[in-house]
Amino acid sequence: MTQVVLGVDLGTSSVKVSAVDRQGQIVAQQSFDYPLTQPHPGWSEQNPEDWVNGTTVAIVNLILKDGLNPADIAGISYSGQMHGLVLLDDNNQVLRPAILWNDTRTTSQTQEIAEKMSEEFVAITRNLALEGFTLPKILWVKENEPEIFKQAKMFLLPKDYLRYRMTGNLAMDYSDAAGTVALDVVHKVWSKAVQKTFDLPASFFPELIESTDFAGYISESYATFSGLHTSTKVFGGAADNAAGAVGAGLLNANMVMSSIGTSGVVAKFEDRADVDYKGDIHFFNHAIPNKFYSMGVTLAAGDANAWFKSVFGEDIPFGDWVNEAAQSLVGANGLIFTPYISGERTPYPDADIRASFTGIDRTHQRADFIRAVLEGIIFSFKDIMMIYDREGANFDTVVAIGGGAKSSLWLQIQADIFNKKVTTLVNEQGPGLGAAMLAATGLGWYDSVQDAANKIIKFGTTYYPNPEAVANYDQVYAIYQTIYAATKEISHELLTYRRQLKH
Ligand code: XUL
Repeated sequence: MTQVVLGVDLGTSSVKVSAVDRQGQIVAQQSFDYPLTQPHPGWSEQNPEDWVNGTTVAIVNLILKDGLNPADIAGISYSGQMHGLVLLDDNNQVLRPAILWNDTRTTSQTQEIAEKMSEEFVAITRNLALEGFTLPKILWVKENEPEIFKQAKMFLLPKDYLRYRMTGNLAMDYSDAAGTVALDVVHKVWSKAVQKTFDLPASFFPELIESTDFAGYISESYATFSGLHTSTKVFGGAADNAAGAVGAGLLNANMVMSSIGTSGVVAKFEDRADVDYKGDIHFFNHAIPNKFYSMGVTLAAGDANAWFKSVFGEDIPFGDWVNEAAQSLVGANGLIFTPYISGERTPYPDADIRASFTGIDRTHQRADFIRAVLEGIIFSFKDIMMIYDREGANFDTVVAIGGGAKSSLWLQIQADIFNKKVTTLVNEQGPGLGAAMLAATGLGWYDSVQDAANKIIKFGTTYYPNPEAVANYDQVYAIYQTIYAATKEISHELLTYRRQLKH
């Protein structure tokens, strides 16, 4: 009888549940997709019931198809898509579809927050109030759907709602609470100043717990529904970026993670809270008690590459497409791409900036364009790293995960553009493994999250910067850095023009 823990990775397009043994090996995995609705341009919503049903189907499949014995499931924990607003009434019934992290309807609420609290807000929450974060979404419902808001007694984030449905207990962990921008990040309490300024009662905010805290047993009703046992212990879990950092072994101050998914994330482990990025990058509580991580987001990273391929190379296998870039040169023969196809977040919080190719020449071939796209995504990551440089935050190792870690060419491009050594993971499993490690630590299988990581995470191949390529990229990056300012007005005007076309 092998005991396992389940790591539930509640993502934006699907939920993936991984059964992980004491050695950190994934013994079985099941996933289930759910839809995302966009009732208006810029809106992005999901039905919380789909998360519960999808998770249950995945768990039932683990039991029925993979033969997992429910009695062997010792613990469960979570990685959750961040920032999504779930509003509950008096009876803990969901009041409206969840408003997700990639929903941008809240520009006027972000401005209201900045006007009412300005620097005090960043000092308390350690972040700017961006469209994606939860507080602006709460204010949007308050202003635009007052009848619904009147009935709202509490809010939760996506994985906290799922945990509530599985245990019957309401709570939120610190790493996810930080992404609401209503948390006093350093003191780990809901901000009274935020509550007072926006007239939100303290009772609207759930109890706060650590990611490895015991959060209840599987409830009788969920056990009946899913086949799980009521003896299975459930633990807090974390925001997907915090759980991803745990699953990538990002647990030392000398390390930065470069993650290329649909969006891209550059995240840094932060031992202490006294570094002040002035809101230029996000600063959140980690899944490890009293530790933090900072991160910047490139809104379209893998998505910029996937978009370009879908338009110009749909039938070409993905690996061949990326490898074609090797036929070009460092700096793509003087062609530069900025990856702002969906706007940008860090370092330019600008939903209306758009992408560009600069320097297109009669001699350029498809390989140059592909290489320019791969490089442009990494230049935008370098923009985030420049904020670390500015604040003197030293690091020497970049752990690459996601799409950027699947190609040795793209890994070398990262090492050369960052001028740092870039390391892969032997068995990259992402936030689901991080979630399982939180449950395993909560159960006492490991002394700490760090201990779990030391025993489970294995680093793979390391790519070292090539000095000649570094020198070339330094020149091209200096030009790249000027393109945002040079294209901003043009982008905004073009978008205004396109918006007129729609009406
Ligand atoms: C982080 C963010 C995204 C979501 C994706 O601030 O908005 O990375 O966490 O789930």
